[in-house]
Amino acid sequence: MTLGLNNFYVSYNNKLILQDINLAFQEKTVSAIVGPSGCGKTTLLRSINRTAELESGFRCNGEIMLYSVNIYQTKDVGSIRRRIGLVFQQPVALPMSITENVIFGVRYCGEKNKNCLQEINEQCLRRVALWNEVKDKLKRPARELSGGQLQRLSIARAIAVRPDVLLLDEPCSSLDPASTHMIEDLLVDLAQELTIIIVTHNLIQAKRIAQETVFMLDGQVVEKGPTEIMFSNPDKNETRDYFF
Ligand SMILES: Nc1ncnc2c1ncn2[C@@H]1O[C@H](COP(=O)(O)OP(=O)(O)OP(=O)(O)O)[C@@H](O)[C@H]1O
Ligand SMILES: [Mg+2]
Repeated sequence: MTLGLNNFYVSYNNKLILQDINLAFQEKTVSAIVGPSGCGKTTLLRSINRTAELESGFRCNGEIMLYSVNIYQTKDVGSIRRRIGLVFQQPVALPMSITENVIFGVRYCGEKNKNCLQEINEQCLRRVALWNEVKDKLKRPARELSGGQLQRLSIARAIAVRPDVLLLDEPCSSLDPASTHMIEDLLVDLAQELTIIIVTHNLIQAKRIAQETVFMLDGQVVEKGPTEIMFSNPDKNETRDYFF
C-alpha cells in the first residue's frame, strides 16, 4: 500500500465535509474517485497533498499514511507536497517559458545544475508525449500552448519532482476527446512508476483507465472496489443508482 486514510475527517468552519474516510491505495495503480458535485472529491485530494489546510477554517482528524509517514504529523509539509503532486482541472501555465514551467518545482527544491535541469526538462516532456510538439519552441511562453498541451505540461511539471503519488482533479474536463485519450494513455503508462488517483465525472473514463473505483456521496465513501465490479455488480444500492 502506498497511501492509506484511516478514520479521516475534514471540516471547514465546523461544517463537516468529509466523514470517516477509510481508503487504501495500492502502489502503481490508477484509482478513480467519482461522485456527485459537492460530495467532497476535491477536498479529499487537497487533504491528501496538504493544500486544503491553506483554506481558512480547515480542520482535520484521523490519519493519512504515505508509506510509513503519517503526513499530518510531519513538520516538513513541503516534502509531502513534493511526494504527492496535484494536477488541477484547469491546466496551469505559470507566466514563464515552457522549459521553466517543467523545471519550476525542481528549481524550487534547490536543483541549480543547468545540465541536470535540461535533462529533466527533456525527459519529462518526452514522458508526457509533448517533446516533439514543443522541442523547437522551449523558450516560448507556456501560455501559447493549447489546452491539451498545457495539461500535459502540467503533468510534466508534477512528475519532474519525482512524486510517489499523482493526484488529478478532473484533468480532462476542459479537453477535447483526442486530448482526453492522450492524457488517459499517459496516466496508464505513468502508473508503471507511480500511484495515480484521478477524480472524474466521466464514468466511462474511470472504466477505461482505473483498476479501482471509489464512489463518494455526501462526504462519505459509499463503496470502493475493482472497477469492473463497481460497474457490473456493486454491493450498495446507492452505487447502483449512480452507475446504472
Ligand atoms: N474553502 C472552503 N470553505 C468552506 N467550504 C468549502 C471550501 N471548499 C469546499 N467547501 C465545501 O465542501 C464541500 C465539498 O466540496 P468539494 O469541492 O470538495 O466537492 P467536489 O466533490 O469536488 O465537487 P465538484 O464535483 O463540483 O468539483 C462543498 O459543500 C463545498 O461547498
Ligand atoms: Mg471538485
